Amino acid sequence: EKMEPDTSFKSVMALALECQKNIPEQYVLPPLQRPNMSLTDHIPTSLPLIDLSMINHPAHRSQVIDEVRAACKQLGFFQVTNHGIPTSVMKDALDTAEEFFNLPSEEKMCFASTDVHEPVRYGTSMNHEKDKVLYWRDFLKLYAYPISEWIHLWPSNPPSYRERMGSYAEAVHKLQNQLMEVVLESLGLNANYLHEDIEEGSQVLAVNCYPSCPEPDLALGMPPHTDYGTLTILNQSHQGLEIMDHAKKWHSVPFIEGALIVQLGDQSEVMSNGRYKGTPHRAILNVQKKRLSISSLHSFAIEKKIRPAPELVDEQHPVAYKEGSFAEFLDCIALNSVSDVKYIDTLR
Ligand code: SIN
Ligand code: FE2
Repeated sequence: EKMEPDTSFKSVMALALECQKNIPEQYVLPPLQRPNMSLTDHIPTSLPLIDLSMINHPAHRSQVIDEVRAACKQLGFFQVTNHGIPTSVMKDALDTAEEFFNLPSEEKMCFASTDVHEPVRYGTSMNHEKDKVLYWRDFLKLYAYPISEWIHLWPSNPPSYRERMGSYAEAVHKLQNQLMEVVLESLGLNANYLHEDIEEGSQVLAVNCYPSCPEPDLALGMPPHTDYGTLTILNQSHQGLEIMDHAKKWHSVPFIEGALIVQLGDQSEVMSNGRYKGTPHRAILNVQKKRLSISSLHSFAIEKKIRPAPELVDEQHPVAYKEGSFAEFLDCIALNSVSDVKYIDTLR
């Protein structure tokens, strides 16, 4: 049954205008969860940056694969340059995203829903109905593949929204196909492994807006989490993403003009039988600047049961994950009305 649009929340965009000095209590995290309480390396260190210009060059592709393998093993994270998406396409998508969040509340509220199956869904925090503490984020989630099936449901205001966000979505979908081939090859799998499932998988854009926050040390834009899919490609207007390494230390991801951020999700962890892990990450806040980000979440089709690649299972590497689809997981959390269980934990 379809839920009625939920109009009972206030956007952070509206709140930020009212709160010049302090954030409301519901946004204040318990001390141990605050961003400044954990081990953080705030000075951007040299995180992997991979030049993709040689990705289709027969003599140099193997070097790209080696760099991707090293990054995936170490952090499940890298940034890419020369990825083929023009900086103007990236910037237009962020600009039109910002214009949408600047619209009056009524314009945005017609997309409000708490039903995770809604193809276009405006909301705030992570799940504002269930979150014990709220997160300083407004979002618009858009189903994006195949684009012809969904784009007519996307906002038509601002007038350039569909065209600009659509161009970006298509370009990033092509990039994920190329990147998944490289990731598969880096695992010793054939570039065509699960080809159809990857090409025909789902793409959801999470368009995020993090208004400037008067007390950025007390709150977060997004709590620590891993993404559920195969990989996520992130386009951002400013610095603000942090990733956690295997030693549980946080690293600020430096902002690099024109670069895109790539992160592995839970489905890559399962498919690789744990050779690679989904990268835990969170979004921090800034006292002066509003930040926009567009996360393109790529995953297998919602009904697809995922399992470790048989080629990656042997005596030294026994099957480490149960098989299960994302749809089964969503049904299970809905049935038990829980919100703090993670997809990957149901497969371990
Ligand atoms: C995300 O985790 O989906 C987005 C994080 C960010 O905005 O940097
Ligand atoms: Fe994420």
